[in-house]
Amino acid sequence: MTDLSIVAPAQGAKQAREAVVRVRDLVVGFGKHIVMKGLDLDIYRGEVLGFVGGSGQGKSVLTRAILGLVEKRAGRIEVFGEDRDRLSAAERRRLERRWGVLFQNGALFSSLTVRQNIQMPMRESRKVSPRLMDELAMLKLDLVGLPASAADKFPSELSGGMVKRAALARALALDPELLFLDEPTSGLDPIGAADFDELISTLQRTLGLTVFMVTHDLDSLYSICDRVAALAEGRVIAAGTMEEMLACDHPWLRAYFHGVRGSRLTGALRRPKDETPCGETTPGETERDETEKGETWKPAPITR
Ligand SMILES: Nc1ncnc2c1ncn2[C@@H]1O[C@H](COP(=O)(O)OP(=O)(O)O)[C@@H](O)[C@H]1O
Ligand SMILES: [Mg+2]
Repeated sequence: MTDLSIVAPAQGAKQAREAVVRVRDLVVGFGKHIVMKGLDLDIYRGEVLGFVGGSGQGKSVLTRAILGLVEKRAGRIEVFGEDRDRLSAAERRRLERRWGVLFQNGALFSSLTVRQNIQMPMRESRKVSPRLMDELAMLKLDLVGLPASAADKFPSELSGGMVKRAALARALALDPELLFLDEPTSGLDPIGAADFDELISTLQRTLGLTVFMVTHDLDSLYSICDRVAALAEGRVIAAGTMEEMLACDHPWLRAYFHGVRGSRLTGALRRPKDETPCGETTPGETERDETEKGETWKPAPITR
């Protein structure tokens, strides 16, 4: 198995980075089905970490386990240095206010307007006057690029991209430091997805957010993620920069990033054979796909 360090800082980092989420030896299961089998993961402050893995491998389950919505059988999860197992109910609520979540499929309440959806977390956790809540909701709408006229619409009256933005506005309702996004661009067309990526990137930089993003979208991984972690067989099999992931020999990673869809995008990001950080033998020329042969590797900027 490729053993890319998931604890050490990314290559080139000058000093150890602060992990705002630290998961160690996590075991999660449902009945006899063990989904996480001793998983380790770090999410560093200020990064966008892309999280990939096959369908049904447990990406959403991990997200929910970190959020405390799924019971773990063993292991340790610390968020902002706090282990929720050791916190009182009030301390947990305080911790939960420091993150925002965009669940898979948007998950807006269909019977509430956009404004009411955005205000939901404010109602639950803050004593804020109705007038201030209205002002805050409009600010959040503006932040995610939605017009004021969207406030009184119901989710069914919005396009797919607008629903995602409204869900993002709700995730940002309490000014979180940490944002969990579970497949935020699924269901959007490529232009809508690219716009949404751009929005996440802008918000991440301007608000100084740390972002954990489950995604199948290779464009998102290339354009906005600082690092990528890959889940397979209940563990994180590798984590690193896109260049480091592309240099890995793990069969699943090679299939994922160098498959038909991936190789179109990866061409520009390939690195020389002798720079592999995996510490394993780089695959021979015969194992590489046709597009790579004879190419001179050039560093391509990650557009962020
Ligand atoms: N509440 C649950 N009860 C039983 N099994 C579950 C539950 N939630 C998820 N699973 C199972 O856990 C596995 C991982 O699911 P999930 O995290 O949703 O996958 P994905 O990587 O596609 O997000 C799947 O086999 C799924 O059926
Ligand atoms: Mg999922």
